Amino acid sequence: TTTAASHDTARSATHDSAFLKACRREPVPHTPVWFMRQAGRSLPEYLKVREGIAMLDSCMMPELVTEITLQPVRRHKVDAAIYFSDIVVPLKAIGIDLDIKPGVGPVIAEPIRTRADLARLRDLTPEDVPYVTEAIGMLTAELGATPLIGFAGAPFTLASYLVEGGPSRSHERTKAMMYGDPQLWADLVDRLAEITGAFLKVQIEAGASAVQLFDSWVGALAPADYRRSVLPASAKVFDAVAPYGVPRIHFGVGTGELLGLLGEAGADVVGVDWRVPLDEAARRVGPGKALQGNLDPAVLFAPTPAVEAKTREVLDAAAGLEGHIFNLGHGVMPSMDPDALTRLVSYVHEQTAR
Ligand code: CP3
Repeated sequence: TTTAASHDTARSATHDSAFLKACRREPVPHTPVWFMRQAGRSLPEYLKVREGIAMLDSCMMPELVTEITLQPVRRHKVDAAIYFSDIVVPLKAIGIDLDIKPGVGPVIAEPIRTRADLARLRDLTPEDVPYVTEAIGMLTAELGATPLIGFAGAPFTLASYLVEGGPSRSHERTKAMMYGDPQLWADLVDRLAEITGAFLKVQIEAGASAVQLFDSWVGALAPADYRRSVLPASAKVFDAVAPYGVPRIHFGVGTGELLGLLGEAGADVVGVDWRVPLDEAARRVGPGKALQGNLDPAVLFAPTPAVEAKTREVLDAAAGLEGHIFNLGHGVMPSMDPDALTRLVSYVHEQTAR
């Protein structure tokens, strides 16, 4: 089929890239770099093409998605592209009434809080997201040897938005369900694992060379609760895409105490925020996994010599690792100077050239 063919073409073109080599823990010509949220409001060219188009609408326009995804690759010379979308796109695609409010984030019209609500979370099929297949086909053709990272929100982080009805600091309703009705919670995250696994498969079939599961807010949990109430669902997502053999990255914020478990869930690469140095993170994750991270994004607001000194600290902590992908500890912020990001990419490349 066409999708299987584009999948194979994209895979062979990108196979020897520094990014995929680092994911596989093979020797690299330089440490690969990409940034979470590298596409978006920090770039004037993004603001220009997004003018007058709502965030969710933009995610369903393949030509626009292709242009926005390519913008940071052109400008910063990063080693990988990340598919421009949002974690709530698959939920919208199966008919959940939601919106992304500027400056707020995803808002759900009718939150999921009871067993009856679960029926609204139906399976996702490739026909629900034709724009994803189309955009990824266009993108892999344009990207050539640069890998494309597909992504999805992890069951816990998606559940938090669905149960709370929007962004939340303390996840109180989510935790109330998790502790108060463990069976409903388990069924909810299992449903989300099915949807997420199916959504990642669509992206890989269309040509994505790697996938990242964003469990952005799971750092709110203690390890025992993560193991009992979240790990089985996230592991189900990783298992669903395992047969493709593409690297699987697992990331969350504030997950210092969970790093070992994030690997155990089935990741090949564990994303680390800035709170744990990479050599210590490697001890917590254990052997056989690459690490991604972990410059504090706020460092980018300091003058260049300070950025370089803090970057050197990250590279020094990563020196003994088998596979390191340089990234920020969380996403690019809209107010960041794009030139500082471009300089950072070239600094890492130059410092790690072998
Ligand atoms: O370049 C990339 O990294 C790809 C783009 C991307 C977006 N969302 C685009 C976006 C990715 C990977 C995401 C994932 C995402 N969405 C996460 C996980 C990543 C993380 O940062 O932890 C989360 C938690 C969301 C939910 C979400 N969507 C938030 C918190 C926001 C920001 C709200 C705001 O306005 O500050 C969004 C909206 C969103 N997603 C924007 C972009 C570029 C901003 C909206 C816009 O540009 O109009």
